[in-house]
Amino acid sequence: MTKPRVLSGIQPTNGSFQLGNYLGAVKQWVELQQSHDAFYCVVDLHALTSSPDPKELRKNTLTSVAQLLALGIDPEHCTLFLQSQVYEHNQLAWVMECLTGFGEASRMTQFKDKSQKVGNDRVVVGVFTYPMLMAADILLYQADQVPVGEDQRQHIELTRDLAARFNSQYGKTFTIPEGYILKAGAKIYDLQDPTSKMSKSAESMSGLIEILDTPESNTKKIKSAVTDTGREVRFDVAEKPGISNLLTIYSALSGKSISETEIEFDGKGYGDFKSAVAEVVVEYLRPVRLRTLELLDDPTHLSAILETGAQKAQAVASKTLAEVYERIGLISRA
Ligand code: TRP
Repeated sequence: MTKPRVLSGIQPTNGSFQLGNYLGAVKQWVELQQSHDAFYCVVDLHALTSSPDPKELRKNTLTSVAQLLALGIDPEHCTLFLQSQVYEHNQLAWVMECLTGFGEASRMTQFKDKSQKVGNDRVVVGVFTYPMLMAADILLYQADQVPVGEDQRQHIELTRDLAARFNSQYGKTFTIPEGYILKAGAKIYDLQDPTSKMSKSAESMSGLIEILDTPESNTKKIKSAVTDTGREVRFDVAEKPGISNLLTIYSALSGKSISETEIEFDGKGYGDFKSAVAEVVVEYLRPVRLRTLELLDDPTHLSAILETGAQKAQAVASKTLAEVYERIGLISRA
């Protein structure tokens, strides 16, 4: 039996991934490599919508790839590639743009939020066409499932609509993908403000655990995490958001369940618990950080991995694109 196919994309982040990216997405990507035919891409073209500095973009893209590899994305068990290296993404994106209504695209919440924030004169058209490029990313590979966070649900809906529209106008060409919304249990909150999601856009870095940060710095951040005035290590998001967040982190990285952990720390104070969390996090991240730095030290090896990934991806993408061009009436080269 053939394995179902998954495709997912991640934007090259500025500097290090944070623990929330890992527990929220990458950890599940790693698991899916075994059970699925997995395609993962670093969506560097999407990153252009925020006009990054060229040097930063290049560095961030390579750092993202190195971190994915260090966290367990294995090119022997999946196809890992850069979006910009497989030209078919842009080519299919144009076809998708010609299939999407202007009003339909205008109703996408990500576009509405961003254009409201900076104003219509400042927002780039790439923010508007972002969802059509994302649809192309997915449909080129005939993906059955798309692992994404809750915030991407509307993009997946649009992708499904476009695939169905194309199929009904031109004949069955695309697999209609399902969203595979990542488990909410893996949602990690800011250590200083445990009611907001851990995110790089937080005002202060002190609530953020970064994969590439030093053990000392991460230990300090965990030991200064906001908790409540009680003493009990108990999972209760409403009453104890800080402790609950630390329990989630501890349990995800140690493999022990939340209730086992509650028992383990029964009668012990927050100080002991925080030290234990810090230790688990630091020990988990230590080899990941070292491996990332090692990979970044060998750019030839990294670019060879990406080249193999691009070739594997392109073999699938070019086949889909050729079929699409044929169906819509474009004439192929002699
Ligand atoms: N928009 C996604 C995000 O911000 C990233 C992305 C781009 C993606 N293309 C994709 C995710 C294709 C899944 C599939 O998280």
